[in-house]
Amino acid sequence: MSSPPLEVAVVGAGYWGPNLVRNFAGHPDTAVRWVCDADGERAERVASTHAGVRSTAALVDVLGDADLDAVVVATPPETHRDIGLAALAAGKHVLIEKPLASSLDEAQQLVDAAEQADLVLMCDHTYCYTPAVTRIRELVRGGVLGDVQYVDSTRINLGLIQSAVDVLWDLAPHDLSILDFVLPPDQAPTAVSAYTADPLGVGRACVGFLTLPLPGGGVGHVHVNWLSPTKIRRTVIAGTHRMLVWDDLDPAHRLTVFDKGVDLSQPLDVEARTDILVSYRVGDMVAPALPEREALRGVVEEFASSVRERRAPLTDGASGLRVVRTLAAAGRSAQAGSVLVPLDAPGAG
Ligand SMILES: NC(=O)c1ccc[n+]([C@@H]2O[C@H](COP(=O)([O-])OP(=O)(O)OC[C@H]3O[C@@H](n4cnc5c(N)ncnc54)[C@H](O)[C@@H]3O)[C@@H](O)[C@H]2O)c1
Repeated sequence: MSSPPLEVAVVGAGYWGPNLVRNFAGHPDTAVRWVCDADGERAERVASTHAGVRSTAALVDVLGDADLDAVVVATPPETHRDIGLAALAAGKHVLIEKPLASSLDEAQQLVDAAEQADLVLMCDHTYCYTPAVTRIRELVRGGVLGDVQYVDSTRINLGLIQSAVDVLWDLAPHDLSILDFVLPPDQAPTAVSAYTADPLGVGRACVGFLTLPLPGGGVGHVHVNWLSPTKIRRTVIAGTHRMLVWDDLDPAHRLTVFDKGVDLSQPLDVEARTDILVSYRVGDMVAPALPEREALRGVVEEFASSVRERRAPLTDGASGLRVVRTLAAAGRSAQAGSVLVPLDAPGAG
């Protein structure tokens, strides 16, 4: 017998909220009961596009609904902690937009509260639910790429200059959540160094570069930028066995896996450097077939099934916390002249 749909409220009906409303309303396992926004007219406008959805400007209306199972938070990051904690205290499961919260302390409070209440806390790391990233995770974690030597992720465009967050907190959660998702825990970055710039003088970074050393000598690099004339969404991952390029804006060649690499005839020895034989492997190039499907549909499915099965979702509160930890450490690094900040040291956030 199929279980009844998960009844959700979407809080925040600005740019992203309506996409969540559409996906939760359109999935057979879920139903939208409420749209809530501090701007009541906006809530009403979005709710009216779907039959039977109520609107309100007051969170208390939503949390007092005994038939509501879950709250989906799509408000600005500085409000995530308070709305999330209130929803958990009311016994609701919670899905929160990226970034999970606007500080490490706030993110930790959410994770702790969900654990104490035995409720599901998921972070919407949307890209982790794209067919391309799902495949990349299989390739990396399944050992097809070998040991990861470097990751280079570019996410740049002429972007909306946000009023409350800088470009790192706006765009880098995508890259960092993808790294967190695809790399096995023992290959996760150990530290972060950040360089940011505010060439317009708007009071917050519009350009940012993150360098993330990987265990075993590799490195991750992330470039996020609101001031680029063209939009680029491209990630390169090089492993000892295979390399791949993911270009999210090229539907014809979204993911390409290269059987290319560099092999040394013997371990590097400084004295013997000149004698080392380097051979280049140039083999086949494969473009795996990927289904076309909206990532948010995968987010909805994962949230609904993790609640039904009472298990941690793929992108749980802990993954949201790890991303926030790296963002907070990156902020400290940028302020301190790009020093390398360890990600596991006490107070690293
Ligand atoms: N996953 C993704 O790909 C993706 C894409 C865009 C935005 N986001 C995330 O979604 C969140 C919202 O971003 P946005 O671009 O939609 O912002 P937005 O400013 O367009 O919309 C935010 C909405 O929240 C409402 N709001 C603010 N405080 C509130 C409160 N306390 N209670 C109820 N409503 C409140 C505002 O009135 C506004 O309508 C952010 O965390 C952002 O990072 C995620």
